[in-house]
Amino acid sequence: MSVVLTEWSGCVLRITLNRPDVRNAFDEEVIAALISVAKDAAADPGLRAIVLAGSGQSFCAGADLAWMTKAIAYTREENRRDAEDLARMLELLDTLPVPLIARVHGAALGGGAGLVAVSDIAVAADDTVFGFTETKLGIIPAVISPYVLGKVGSSAARELFLTGARFTAKRARRIGLVHRVVSKSQLDDTVDEYLREIFTSGPHAVSATKGLLREIRGSRSEDVIGLTTTRIADQRISPEGQEGMHAFLQKRKPNWIP
Ligand code: COA
Repeated sequence: MSVVLTEWSGCVLRITLNRPDVRNAFDEEVIAALISVAKDAAADPGLRAIVLAGSGQSFCAGADLAWMTKAIAYTREENRRDAEDLARMLELLDTLPVPLIARVHGAALGGGAGLVAVSDIAVAADDTVFGFTETKLGIIPAVISPYVLGKVGSSAARELFLTGARFTAKRARRIGLVHRVVSKSQLDDTVDEYLREIFTSGPHAVSATKGLLREIRGSRSEDVIGLTTTRIADQRISPEGQEGMHAFLQKRKPNWIP
C-alpha cells in the first residue's frame, strides 16, 4: 500500500497521508511521494484545488522520529540533503498554483502542524491536538519556521515554539493556523463548502491571486532554506536531539527532565 494515496474527483485532487500505524509521520519515502504528487498536480491544467488529509486516527504526527534518529549515522552533507528534501516539499506545497485545503483531525504536531501552515485553508476537527513539539524532543522547528511565522506571527510562534506545548483547535483558530473548527462529522462537508466557493471563482484569478500574495511576501530565499536545513541537521545529530528522539521511541522521559 502506498504511503501517499491520491484520488481525483473532478478537478480536485485528494491527497491522503497513509502511514496510520505511526500517525502519518513522514519519512524520506513520504517526502519523495509528496514531492512527486505535488509536482505532477501543479503541472495539470485541469486542477482547481487540492485537499490534504491523513488516514486513520490522526492527520500527521510530524517527522518520523525513527527516521530522524538514523541521522546520527549520516554525514553532515547527507543530513543536510535529508532536511533539504523536507524543505523542498514544504516549499512546493506552499507555492502550489491552486488552493491547498488541509482536512485536519486527531493530531497535527511538529512537521504535521507545518503542513497545516503551508495550506491556504485549514479545517480542523474540534478535538484535534496541535503543537510545535520539536523542543520536547531535543530538536528544533527549523524547516517549518518560515511558514509558521508567516501564518501565526511572531508572538504566537515564540510562545508555542519555545514551550513546545500542545494546544487546542480553538487556539489554532485564534492564531490563524486554521480557519474553521467543526465536529469531526462535519469535516468533509466543511471542506466541500470551501471547494464550492472556490469553484465559483475564476480559476485563473484564484491562481493569479495566490501567485500575487507570494510575490508581495517575497520569495523564500535559498539562504533561508540553507539556514533552516543546516540548523535542523545539526540538532538531529546532537546528543540532545538523539536523546530526545530515542526517549520518545523508547517511551521514556528524556534525561533533561528532572
Ligand atoms: N515518529 C515516529 N513514530 C511516531 C510518531 C513520530 N513522529 N508519532 C507517533 N509515532 C508512533 C508511536 O511511536 C507509536 O508506535 P508503536 O505503535 O510502535 O508504539 C504509534 O505511532 C502510535 O502512537 P501513539 O502515541 O500510541 O498514538 P496516539 O494516538 O495515542 O497518539 C500522537 C498520537 C500523534 C498524539 C502521539 O503519537 C504523539 O504525541 N507523537 C509525537 C509527535 C511529535 O511530537 N511529533 C513531532 C516530531 S518533530
